[in-house]
Order: sequence, then structure tokens, then C-alpha cells
Amino acid sequence: MNDSIKSPPSNLPPSHTTGTVALRWHGSSLELLDQRLLPVQEHWITFEGAAGVAQSIRDMVVRGAPAIGISAAYGVALAARHAGGGDWRAEVRQAFGELAASRPTAVNLFWALQRMERVFACCNSLGEAQKRLEKEAVAIHQEDLAANLAMADHALDAMGLSAGGGNASPVSVLTHCNTGALATGGYGTALGVIRRLHEKKLLKQVYADETRPWLQGSRLTAWELVRDGIPVTLNADGAAAAILAAGEVRWIVVGADRITANGDVANKIGTYSLAVLARHHKIGFMVVAPSSTVDMSLASGADIVIEERDGSELREIRGIPLAPEGVSVFNPVFDVTPANLIDLIVTEKGAVRNPNITGMHKLFG
Ligand code: MRU
Repeated sequence: MNDSIKSPPSNLPPSHTTGTVALRWHGSSLELLDQRLLPVQEHWITFEGAAGVAQSIRDMVVRGAPAIGISAAYGVALAARHAGGGDWRAEVRQAFGELAASRPTAVNLFWALQRMERVFACCNSLGEAQKRLEKEAVAIHQEDLAANLAMADHALDAMGLSAGGGNASPVSVLTHCNTGALATGGYGTALGVIRRLHEKKLLKQVYADETRPWLQGSRLTAWELVRDGIPVTLNADGAAAAILAAGEVRWIVVGADRITANGDVANKIGTYSLAVLARHHKIGFMVVAPSSTVDMSLASGADIVIEERDGSELREIRGIPLAPEGVSVFNPVFDVTPANLIDLIVTEKGAVRNPNITGMHKLFG
């Protein structure tokens, strides 16, 4: 091993960490846990170049907005580490292009690449680029974990549960997709809030939407929570309305892939319907994301590019047909929840209540 900086970080107390990680940095290689194979198999894939990392983001070996950004940053670091020494600048520039083309919706990818680009632009030699790009990637990784821990505190504050809850009784929440350690630098965004509630004995039950079609909820969120001994009940997406109608759930807590200047939120397909349900049932709807998910350059959700993935995600599962062969499929994998259906956006910088352009500008302007 060379003098590289290793991840994951941590001078953090054990209660703030979880055994689950999505990626491991080794200085000249990056290992990704193949999330396509969970919960059946824990298989790690090693990458030594940016092209493989870009492909793994496209194929969802690694997914979740912050984890995509962190992986892309390490991808750039790998490109520098293994550059041939000839036109090393062109090789690294090519890596930026490949990584930026991997997935369109989560802004964390572009945010991380921009940070890496700013560092790259100042480097005068390959040796300097190798050192500085690696340092920046590790910083992006560490900062994401720290942001998750901070936003869990802000969320509990905003829920009125911060001082250990006082006499507060434990709450039940419903979540969608996977926003945990697998989707981030560790701990999680919405799932980080859930972890913190559990640590403080303020969590009664998590309802986890299975999250069709890729099943991030059943395959990943349920796996993380069961692993950590956090009480979770898995439900079909269509059961959410009945669960809310029963009256036990107090908050819907979700993550985000991009939050625009007016507070609109792009997140996993199905999030918008949950926000409508929350308003109907008069329960709280909270979005938890690092500030790297905030894109103040876009005026509203209408400007967000929504990724559409292959119809095979609905037509079949692991090669087994679920629909008539050749049926036409509409498979947008994100939707946009309008700001007026959101009660709270929580980031490491603090919370915006009833988000709108003014509130967003105050915190992120
Ligand atoms: O398609 P995915 O699995 O990358 O989508 C993930 C989500 O939509 C998450 O909710 C979002 O990225 C927040 S992850 C902390």
C-alpha cells in the first residue's frame, strides 16, 4: 500500500456508525458492494479505472445520490492514479466525461465532479494531481458521512424530539427507496434520521415501501434495518395509503436526488404519490438530503432531467418474465414532488420548513 489516505473515515463514536458500507477505498483501487445482488449475496467488485466505475454507476452496482457522487470522485482519483504518463491530462479529462454520462438525475454526481474539476484545474504535474484528487475524493466521502450525522440531529430538532424526546413517545415512520449507508458515505439521510430515532428509543416501527421496480426498499432498506436490529415492516408500495389511513404513522421520511431553488424535490418514483397521501392524511412529509443534493441553478422541478430506464426492469425479474413479451413500458425512475406538499427539507446546514424560494435562498443562497 502506498501513502494513500484510506476510507472510510472515522473518529466518530461507535453509536454513529453502522457495519454497512457501499464502497471501500484502497488508494489505487475502489471496491463497490454489488447492490444488484443484495440481499442474497454480498459480493465486492474491485475497480482500478474510471470507465469501470462509470459503468457500475450506470448498471446500479452502486446507487443512491450521495454514493454515486462519492464513487465518481474516486473514479477520477483512479484515472489520475493509473494515468499512463503521456497526455495524463487528456486521460483524466476523459474520465470526467465518462463519469458525467453515467446517470442524469442525481445532482450529487455533477457536484462531486465539479469539486474534482476545480482541484484538477490547479494541478501542474501528474504526481500533484494524483495526491490532490485522492485527497479531495476522500474529503467528499468523509464530509458526506459527517453531513448525515448532522442532518439526523437537525431532523430530530425539527420534529420536536431533540432533547432525548423528554416524555415523547416513540413514533412510526414510513420510508421509500433506500437512503441508508448503502446510498451514502455511511449512516444515511432519511435512514440516518430513522437510525437516530432508534438510537434515542424514539422509534416504534419503520414501514418500508418495497419500491418497485428495482426494489431498493425490500432488497436494501429492509436488509440494512434487519442487520441493525431496527424494527421494520416491509410493505408493497400500494399498501402505503392503507397504512397511513390506520393512523399509526406520524412522518413519511424520504431522501432526494435533486432539490431545486423553489424547494421541489426529485426522488425515487412513487415519492410524489406519498406526499399527496401525507397531505390527505395530515401527517408530516420530510425530505432529508445533504446540501450537495441542492441545485440552486434550477428554478423548479420542471427543469430536472428525469432518468428513464429500460423496460426490462418491469417486464422481468432476474430473467423471469412478469409481463407479456414486448409490451410497451413507461419506466421513469424518479418523480418530482412539488414544494407545497413538503413540510420539511432537512440538510446538514439546517431545516427549511414549508419550503419555497425564500426559505431555500435563506439557507442555500
Ligand atoms: O435509482 P436509485 O436507487 O439511485 O435512487 C435512489 C433514490 O432515489 C434515493 O432516495 C436518493 O438517491 C436519496 S439516497 C440518500
